[in-house]
Amino acid sequence: KLVNGFKLMEYGKENGLLLPAFNTTNYEVTKGIIDGFDAMGLGGYIAISSSNLKLSSPKIIADMVNSVMKDKSTPVSLHLDHGKSFKDVKACIDAGFTSIMVDASHLSFEENIKEVQRTVEYCHFFDIPVEAELGAIQGKEDDHVLEEDAKTSSEDVREFVEQTGCDLLAVSIGNVHGMELTPNLDFPLLDEIVKKSSVPLVLHGGSGIPFDQVRKAKKRNLIKVNYGSDLRQAFIRTYGKAYEQNHNEFNLMGLSQEAVKNVMGRVESIIEEVNVK
Ligand code: G3H
Ligand code: ZN
Repeated sequence: KLVNGFKLMEYGKENGLLLPAFNTTNYEVTKGIIDGFDAMGLGGYIAISSSNLKLSSPKIIADMVNSVMKDKSTPVSLHLDHGKSFKDVKACIDAGFTSIMVDASHLSFEENIKEVQRTVEYCHFFDIPVEAELGAIQGKEDDHVLEEDAKTSSEDVREFVEQTGCDLLAVSIGNVHGMELTPNLDFPLLDEIVKKSSVPLVLHGGSGIPFDQVRKAKKRNLIKVNYGSDLRQAFIRTYGKAYEQNHNEFNLMGLSQEAVKNVMGRVESIIEEVNVK
């Protein structure tokens, strides 16, 4: 059964975990993620971004996740990642998502605050936590590319968190989305942000960040770290390699089972690196 996002945060704090959030797109990736969590016996998030909901719907994703989770006991929350509209937020809550991110980081400081405020008001009524983003993260997130780096300004953090009432804060400290750019985490900035934030922090763009840096950040009031491209690559490569070897390959079932295993393998190693080592 899926776990409420506030409960998952408590579980993370009690066990000193940095909760990994793995992004899904389809059934195979979903199964690989949940099987990975289950095999490791440690919880976290399964997430889907607004832009990855184009082929499905919050309801399809929630039904699928609930069904795969049925016989599992590892605590997992279903999270809307980079929620781009209030409509998506509502649809995800209706479908049974247990954690929400509203990404209004492309708006002005004041507009970002307003958008997060109304999302918090709505989600808290349903006892669902809200992650917000201050500063914007460079790189490629699905079909959305941000060229400019806009690091979180530590001076804005206290006001943003107090005004919005958000429960988690995603920061831009030199972390990037995707595999093309090299992240360069600004730890002095992270330390400044930690001092100003009364809520735990979230690190996006996990795929490109060396694990020792993730573990270093973990000690600085970080509660969640997001992984997307890494799993998508493991999934796509399964089919790509098979095609390279045989242009007439059509064993979709066999390859899909292999793709689930490959995604699961990445999930297990990431959990190991972030929380066991
Ligand atoms: O919100 C999703 C993550 O920030 C994914 O980033 O694809 O670089 O792992 P990544
Ligand atoms: Zn992200």
